[in-house]
Amino acid sequence: MRTIADHVLDIAQNSVNAQATYVKINFVEDHEKIVIKIKDNGCGINKEELSKIFDPFFTTHEEIRRVGLGLPFLKQNAELTGGYVHVSSTPKIGTVLEATLFKTIDCQPIGDLAGTFAALVTSSTGVTWEIRRCLGKECYDFSSKALDGVDLSSPKVIKMIFEYFKNMESSL
Ligand SMILES: Nc1ncnc2c1ncn2[C@@H]1O[C@H](COP(=O)(O)OP(=O)(O)OP(=O)(O)O)[C@@H](O)[C@H]1O
Ligand SMILES: [Mg+2]
Repeated sequence: MRTIADHVLDIAQNSVNAQATYVKINFVEDHEKIVIKIKDNGCGINKEELSKIFDPFFTTHEEIRRVGLGLPFLKQNAELTGGYVHVSSTPKIGTVLEATLFKTIDCQPIGDLAGTFAALVTSSTGVTWEIRRCLGKECYDFSSKALDGVDLSSPKVIKMIFEYFKNMESSL
């Protein structure tokens, strides 16, 4: 796990793996910290599993070759900066994850957030994605409802979506 964008990809993929049809990502950054909040309407996590999600190699997705390192790495990297990760979940309703990372010397680089958002919305098309990204007072919002009827199998369209997020990131 090299960048914070890699963590976003992993947490969002957890929501997809949990059969979510709606995933809301908030990525809010200021001069001192980064707060990531991801809410989904997936299968949720029962009490017993919830106590294990930060254990290395705990996974309920062996069948799709998950290894169970996503959340332990996120927790470790957040705590290294003095931050934390909190997960609350209700079976059959969904899950909310909130991570705070402080911008200390130990904080990972943000990485390719634009590419991560674009990859998510173009690859997991059975999901309605709502993304809010803020840097200081500047924010942009994206809803994959805007892509209804758009041909996501077209490489041209995919390229446009990657460009869109790149432009939104540089506008911040
Ligand atoms: N949003 C979610 N909804 C339901 N269950 C979740 C969610 N996020 C995590 N989990 C549960 O926590 C487990 C651990 O998550 P984690 O990201 O650490 O590992 P993984 O996704 O199984 O594997 P890896 O991230 O290494 O590919 C998952 O296997 C799943 O059971
Ligand atoms: Mg994972």
